[in-house]
Amino acid sequence: MIICLFWYIIDYIDVKFGGTNIKESKADLNDKDKLVQGKNTDVSTELVLVNKKYSLSKNYKPEALTIPNIPFADGTENEENHVAGIIIKPIEELVNTAKQEGVILLGNSAYRSYKSQKDTYSDRVKSDGRKLANAYVAKPGFSEHQTGLCIDMTNEDRYFMKGTKEADWLGENAYRFGFIIRYPEGKKSITDIEYEPWHIRYVGEKAAKYIYDNGITLEEYLGK
Ligand code: DAL
Ligand code: ZN
Repeated sequence: MIICLFWYIIDYIDVKFGGTNIKESKADLNDKDKLVQGKNTDVSTELVLVNKKYSLSKNYKPEALTIPNIPFADGTENEENHVAGIIIKPIEELVNTAKQEGVILLGNSAYRSYKSQKDTYSDRVKSDGRKLANAYVAKPGFSEHQTGLCIDMTNEDRYFMKGTKEADWLGENAYRFGFIIRYPEGKKSITDIEYEPWHIRYVGEKAAKYIYDNGITLEEYLGK
């Protein structure tokens, strides 16, 4: 009981005051070649692994953050409408192709700075409790939203669940544009995140097709 309380307090301090126990890289992470953390230094930038084990520096910011020309659920110009330069064309093509195929997709949340992720995580802990927050939201420094390589999509009903036309289309077609469903159904034991049909992550067309065809996760693809 006392030990549990101790760890809870440590965890709370971490979230509240900026991730004091988060691994920080001494590398200049604005240099693309140094983006990858820890042991996975041989992979190319778009295959960077960020999860509960592999973190980004607090100061890491992706190159060429830009607002893609797609509709967003929140029409205002804000940080979360931005994506890394490398995924502008792929995400625009994905959304345009979906529209041609009768599916309207809206961007919801893409790039989130360390600070935004901290707020997102804290807000979720407050609203849903820590257990549920940990199942769906990464702690600051451990979210691939900070890479600018992923984006949460939604639909006009703001109900993006398995079985909806939009979520099903995304699940079946994202790979055509180099994206994967990063947290697939039934893979929580590997990703440590619940199924998120809305969260797509750019990994490039080759990796995306392999991951889609084989029903695996990015962790499995990278052998991590
Ligand atoms: N929802 C994903 C795990 C994130 O917060 O990065
Ligand atoms: Zn997400």
